[in-house]
Amino acid sequence: MRPDSHRPIGVFDSGVGGLTVLKALTRRLPAESTVYLGDTARVPYGTKSGAVVTRYSLKNAEFLRTEGVKLLVVACNTASAVALPALRAHLDIPVVGVIEPGAEAAVRASRGGVVGVIGTPGTIRSGAYQQALEGLRPGGRVLARACPLFVPLAEEGWLGGDVPRLVAREYLAPFRGGEVDTLVLGCTHYPLLSEVIAEEAGSGIRLVDSAEATADAVAQLLEAQGMLAPVSAELRHAFFVTDVPERFAEVGARFLGRPIERAEQIDITYV
Ligand code: DGL
Repeated sequence: MRPDSHRPIGVFDSGVGGLTVLKALTRRLPAESTVYLGDTARVPYGTKSGAVVTRYSLKNAEFLRTEGVKLLVVACNTASAVALPALRAHLDIPVVGVIEPGAEAAVRASRGGVVGVIGTPGTIRSGAYQQALEGLRPGGRVLARACPLFVPLAEEGWLGGDVPRLVAREYLAPFRGGEVDTLVLGCTHYPLLSEVIAEEAGSGIRLVDSAEATADAVAQLLEAQGMLAPVSAELRHAFFVTDVPERFAEVGARFLGRPIERAEQIDITYV
């Protein structure tokens, strides 16, 4: 066992979305402590350029490093799509993004080899999922589409009913032809809308949740490197945000599936 194994796992996202990844992570690894940072002052990342999202991601990582984390989970699809190489180059701890685990799970699930991907405009434009999927299954086909309206719907808690259904029907039309057999939920917010997405994507399409696949990847990595927390370690789950902790706690509870008692506001401009 490594001497730093009792240290927490660092997790960041542009806001509340990464809490779906944190939820999967704490379910998969209940003995691990975590420190979560939601960059609520600068959300959304999904509509910003790769250069700007990379700059924000490096700041987030620097802050989490000051909290002594042993591993970093980039719990945001957009940041994983554009900032992973820069984060890996700057940090001396393992960095896990959500794209590779999600793509691997999709390739395992797809029988016919035609995989659909939905995400933010930044994630889809980067081509990160498309490249990962094509790398894992050369010759397979990928159909990708940005679905930006799913993010505010999930944050508003509009998870069912006419509005999300019509939005999903419109976005998911290209996936209904019967060719695509597996659809990757390539955005942290989409698991909340999985019921309506599954219905509108058409029967027979399997949904892949990157959050679950990422939690499995983190568990495997910690085990392989002898970094799993000792059972005796004290458990701590801390939350930090860069703006409006009250809204983070309120909306975030829905994403996390349990109440968030305290989120501390920090200023990372000068970290
Ligand atoms: N967390 C982002 C993602 O998974 C969605 C929200 C945003 O655009 O910042 O891509």
